[in-house]
Order: sequence, then C-alpha cells, then structure tokens
Amino acid sequence: MRIILLGPPGAGKGTQARLIAEHYGIALISTGDMLRDAVNAGTALGKKANAYMTEGRLVPDNVIIEIVMERITAPDCKTGFLLDGFPRTLAQAQALRKASIVIDYIINIRVDDTHIVERMEGRRVHPQSGRVYHLKYNPPANLNKDDITGEPLIQREDDKQETIKKRLSIHHEQTTPLLNYFTEWSETDSDAPYFSDIDGVGSVKEVSQRLLSTLEGRSLGFETITDTNFDTLVEMHPLLVIIFTAKWCNPCHALIKTCVKLAKEYPDVVFGAIDVDEQPSLVEEFDVQSVPAVMVLRERVVIFAETGLLLPSALRSLLKRAKSLKA
Ligand code: AP5
Repeated sequence: MRIILLGPPGAGKGTQARLIAEHYGIALISTGDMLRDAVNAGTALGKKANAYMTEGRLVPDNVIIEIVMERITAPDCKTGFLLDGFPRTLAQAQALRKASIVIDYIINIRVDDTHIVERMEGRRVHPQSGRVYHLKYNPPANLNKDDITGEPLIQREDDKQETIKKRLSIHHEQTTPLLNYFTEWSETDSDAPYFSDIDGVGSVKEVSQRLLSTLEGRSLGFETITDTNFDTLVEMHPLLVIIFTAKWCNPCHALIKTCVKLAKEYPDVVFGAIDVDEQPSLVEEFDVQSVPAVMVLRERVVIFAETGLLLPSALRSLLKRAKSLKA
C-alpha cells in the first residue's frame, strides 16, 4: 500500500504517519525528518537545507525530489510506503506522476490555522527517533522526557511564532494548487490515486480512526457484511453490490476506488464487503466462483463481485443489468 499524507504544518501528519505505517507494516518516509537528520549530521544536504528550514521556507524542489526518488527505491519500500511531507508543491507532485510511481491513496488532513498554532507551540520532539509529543494533547509520561528512552525532548527551531506564520502562509500558497491538481487527476483518470480529505480536529485516536476507516473503505459507504446482518442488509437495500475481500487486500482497494466512483453515479446502490477469512459460512453459501454475478435474493437485486473485477466499465455494465432486473 502506498499512501501520501497531506496537510498544513502541525496538522498531525507525522503523528498519524507513524501509527498508519506501523499498522500496515510499510516504510515511513518523512521528508522533514530526513532533512532534520541531515542538518544534525552536518551533511552537504543538511547544510543546504538548514537556512530554508529555519526560516520556514521550502527546500528547493530539485533537492527534495532527488532524495525522495532515491529513498523510495530502498528495499524496505517494496511492500509499500507512506510519504509524510511530500509532495508539497505542484512540481513535486508532477515529478512523482511523471516517474509513474503508483500511489493508492492521498489523504489530506484538514485543520484550521487556530488549532495549528496551538499544536505547534506545544509540540516537543525526541530528535533521535522523531517521536512527537504535545504538552497538552499528547504529553510524555514524564515532563520533557521521551517515553521510550527517557532522553530529553526539545522544541523544534521552526516552531517559533514568527516561523509558524511564515510556514502557514507558504502552505496556503502552495497547497491550493496541489489539492486542485489531485482533485482533477482523480476525477479524470481511472488509474489516479484515491483522493480524499479527513477532519484532523479531535483526539489523536479519533483522527487515526477516521484515517483508517477512510483507507479501509468503511467510511465510503461500505457495509461490513457478516452472517448475522446479511439478511437484514439484503432486505433493506433494493440494490446491493457485495464484494468478496480478504482483509481489504490491495486489489480490493482498487475495486473500492471503482465503487466510490460508481457510487456517485448510482446513489441508490449500497456497497458492502464480505471478508472471506471471517465469514466462511457466507463464502460457502455464495461461492463467488459459482454464483452468477447478478442475482435476485429475497426479491432484491444483489451483485456479487470478486476482486478480479477491477474495471469500472465491467462493474458499470453489471449495474445496468441489475437495474433492468430491478425494473
Ligand atoms: P516537516 O517536518 O514536514 O514539517 P510540516 O509539514 O510543517 O509538518 P510538521 O512536522 O510541522 O507537522 P505535522 O503535520 O507532522 O504534525 P505533528 O504530527 O508533528 O518539514 C519541516 C521543513 O522541512 C519544512 O518547513 C521545509 O523547510 C522542509 N521540507 C520538508 N518536506 C519538504 C518538501 N517536500 N519540499 C520542500 N521542503 C520540505 O503534530 C503537531 C503537534 O500537534 C504535535 O505536538 C502533536 O503531538 C500534536 N497533535 C497531533 N495530532 C493531534 C490531535 N489530533 N489533537 C491535538 N494535538 C495533536
């Protein structure tokens, strides 16, 4: 799974990125952390980046594009990665697309400026690991000490009030075109990453749940179908598309993207998923290999789809058949 987290400085990208990368066992790539490591190590990159970062400006595109492109070819990125802090400009987004790097999800974390200032002023970090705390919202167990190592926490150089304002204004300038770019891409290209935004205000746990459920398709109107709710769901919904899935696997995400698009065209259709590992009795009853793709059950029309059915056109024609059966 390949994910990009977008959002203003201090939106909680780094906090969520750690949790999500750990949850999916994928590599976490934070351009901010990479640059700060380079500054601390006094490398040529660090020397180049330091002045930009301290002033709250963006490091030049060519520098950042090169380090990200190199990083994502590392072996730990083979199973997937999460990009935190990249892309941040149109040029960076275009470079990613031009290099044909497949991205599954782009999620923008929305937080308004008043919350941001409070979050950044109260932020404390453990520079060696990149672990992030907040004096009020996510405090360490012992004041100013990292929970794991007990080492001192610091306030980031760029978390001073003047720099915060500068970073926010740069963000607003750069982000609107970036968000428009991703919206347009996702609406015009069936291979585009799934693009969505979530509300970043709430506790860290609430925001992670929103993020996870968006990633897992559950907040996209997907019903989780079990043997206990199957009958009720069929009776409740005149047209139900059921997808057989194994733990929201990768091909399934592609199918979910297709369904999300089609859900806009067919507002009366309800989408649901049966986890084949958890619902063996339903799998036996409606064996996806042998059931017809469209069938009438208890006077309702149900479409069964398997994860191989990835094309919007194929699902669209099943929906047309289902509609004619319903009529
Ligand atoms: P970077 O480190 O990426 O900074 P940023 O994008 O400005 O984001 P932050 O790290 O400030 O915030 P965050 O969204 O990760 O929030 P966090 O989880 O820490 O970049 C630093 C600099 O490097 C840039 O200014 C630039 O110079 C350069 N750079 C990096 N990438 C670049 C690129 N692609 N191109 C060019 N230059 C680049 O949370 C913030 C605080 O809020 C924490 O204290 C946290 O505990 C708290 N918090 C988190 N979630 C919640 C919650 N739900 N409720 C309450 N508090 C919360």
